[in-house]
Amino acid sequence: MKALQILKYGELKNGLSFSETSRPSINATDILIETKATGLNPIDYKLVSGGLKDMVPLNLPSTIGFDVSGVILEKGADVNGFEVGDAVYARVPQNQMGTVAEYVAVDSTVVSKKPENISFEEAAGLPLIGLTSIQALERVGLKEGDRVLIHAGSGGVGSFAIQYAKTKGAYVYTTTSTKNVEWVKALGANRVIDYKKEDYKSIVSDLDIVFDTLGDDYTLEAFQIIKVGGKVTSIASVPDEETAAMMGMKGYQLPEKFSKLIDAKSANYKLTWMQPNGEQLDTISAMVKDEKIKPITDKVYPFEDGIEAYLYLATGRAKGKVIINFS
Ligand SMILES: NC(=O)c1ccc[n+]([C@@H]2O[C@H](COP(=O)([O-])OP(=O)(O)OC[C@H]3O[C@@H](n4cnc5c(N)ncnc54)[C@H](OP(=O)(O)O)[C@@H]3O)[C@@H](O)[C@H]2O)c1
Repeated sequence: MKALQILKYGELKNGLSFSETSRPSINATDILIETKATGLNPIDYKLVSGGLKDMVPLNLPSTIGFDVSGVILEKGADVNGFEVGDAVYARVPQNQMGTVAEYVAVDSTVVSKKPENISFEEAAGLPLIGLTSIQALERVGLKEGDRVLIHAGSGGVGSFAIQYAKTKGAYVYTTTSTKNVEWVKALGANRVIDYKKEDYKSIVSDLDIVFDTLGDDYTLEAFQIIKVGGKVTSIASVPDEETAAMMGMKGYQLPEKFSKLIDAKSANYKLTWMQPNGEQLDTISAMVKDEKIKPITDKVYPFEDGIEAYLYLATGRAKGKVIINFS
């Protein structure tokens, strides 16, 4: 089968190449998907750069990609609840990475049936961003009435997280640049802050939660704008100690500048490293079916233009999701 593979660490143009590989085999709990579409995520290009070598060790060459939608071609003997021919989608586990390929093997426990009211392209963009949003916001106990700032509302994660936080009854602030303000407002955000024209730190204060999707100084600044006892939930900064233990980082301690900021605000700080989860994906399917969550697709590329698709995503300017289509 044809697959887009990471051949060596480095720049996308040199590191990625199309290869002929064997179709993955399945074990008793797996299903084999004939790929219809793949959703691209920043983790993919960060893996190519070698920046995540320690956290996600790869045996190169390695097929790229974590999100997939398609049709079940085969199922293992112990698979329940799915049949050959079902339309499904998933964020595959790390050891089954490789969704930019004509066929994908995936453990059935992380798979969900594709909602019938969305296309394969739309479905392929949802698993990683949806699971990340739910896990990061639930980890700090998002609840009705919370005042939340979600950074980068026009990104893959932000565009899902805004809609999800609204279903929970939160008051949502978000940041984006001028060109995206109107459509991000239409996702339900109560106040869209145009970072080209406004300083978000002068607009928000005493927040219950900051969802930090940007990292670096944005994580540190989050402690200035939460209330005493507020929460900073990040997907782009240093691990909290619980997450570090889960990732096997023995003896890890939070950097001192973080501990000081946390103590000063009696804050709760978490870094979520998303995990595939079929039950949570079923929840996403239900919200999509009820039209509480709408997939946001920026561009769809044919499989043969997969490297261009990654180059576009890596500009950091995507408006929702970048998708590869296999039909
Ligand atoms: N820990 C985890 O498990 C996990 C899971 C998922 C994602 N992540 C990480 O989370 C980050 C976001 O992922 P994503 O999929 O949402 O990325 P993405 O879709 O590539 O984000 C692109 C968006 O970011 C916006 N943006 C860039 N700089 C901004 C700024 N200074 N202020 C406000 N918006 C800004 C851009 O809007 P403008 O063009 O308007 O600037 C663009 O719409 C990535 O670093 C990713 O690796 C981590």
